Amino acid sequence: MQTEKEDDDASVEEYVALSNFTGGGSNQLSFRSGDTLLVHAKTSSEWLWSELQGAAGRRTEAYRQVILSNSAPLRNKVVMDLGCGTGIISLFCAQLARPSQVFAVGASSMAEYTSWGSRTAGRAEDIHLPERVDILVSEWMGNCLLFEFMVESVLLARDRWLKEGGVMWPSSAALTLVPCQANSYYAEKMAFWEQPYGLDCTPLHFNSHLIDPSDCLTAPCDVLRLDMYTLEIKDLEEIKGQFHFGVEKPTHWKQTLFMLDRPVRVLEGDSIAGTIVLRRNPVWRRHMTITLHWSINSSTGGKEKGQVGKKSFPMWR
Ligand SMILES: C[S@@+](CC[C@H](N)C(=O)[O-])C[C@H]1O[C@@H](n2cnc3c(N)ncnc32)[C@H](O)[C@@H]1O
Repeated sequence: MQTEKEDDDASVEEYVALSNFTGGGSNQLSFRSGDTLLVHAKTSSEWLWSELQGAAGRRTEAYRQVILSNSAPLRNKVVMDLGCGTGIISLFCAQLARPSQVFAVGASSMAEYTSWGSRTAGRAEDIHLPERVDILVSEWMGNCLLFEFMVESVLLARDRWLKEGGVMWPSSAALTLVPCQANSYYAEKMAFWEQPYGLDCTPLHFNSHLIDPSDCLTAPCDVLRLDMYTLEIKDLEEIKGQFHFGVEKPTHWKQTLFMLDRPVRVLEGDSIAGTIVLRRNPVWRRHMTITLHWSINSSTGGKEKGQVGKKSFPMWR
């Protein structure tokens, strides 16, 4: 499925894979459904030069690297891949590390098609394993880290099935925030939502948007850091983080966007401080609301001095 051409290199075309593909050799690229592929050249209709790009590809590769660099400690160990999906992480374990057992646990029907090893079709909450595991690996991270709250299932599995002293991958997780400008995006998208058809749609101002790295106003900071060994399910109800940024030159970073109702003017040397609260919905348990409070301290004492603001972003309720 083709998406859009890259602006900075007109010869590169971006595609999103609609299905998994396993390359037939080292000269072929393997990818999964949802991965972004950059096609650099088409030498014929069958042969393309392309590379993997984007979060999905990078994420899978990060897991592969962890497994590869821990192949010796994994030998003869029992592994659980929770939410195995395609089973690729379980396969990495089996292929790269020779554990004694890999339990690939998946709630989706995909688990029925992974006809190898010890697959377990079902929700982590309902499964029964013959033994506890040494390593619990899971790709559970959602939008804004917690959205969909699959992390709850991972914590439950940890408490039930991980041996004393067992290992969690990932062992920690962070949510990172950075102030940015988005002038053209604001003009293009947000202006529409002000008064479409004469209706006030401002409550719908939540956006997920990949920002240009050059639009970031400073270096990012971690506003939340979760320790997967000590985090408790009850901690997920409300998680609070703090931030403090000094506005500097643009930096290189990519993230999704929390669009404010109005552009807030800041100058180099100003500082932005505040809090972020992720509050889990008491009814729709996979949803949450993210609330940002901020204040701006002007370095010049101009009219921006003391600007404060608050905005809540429901995801999705
Ligand atoms: C982000 S995907 C992981 C993809 C997988 N690592 C792969 O490479 O294909 C999350 C997966 O976890 C599964 N899942 C979510 N909650 C689950 C639960 N409670 N028990 C088992 N699987 C779950 C989903 O069906 C989905 O396939």
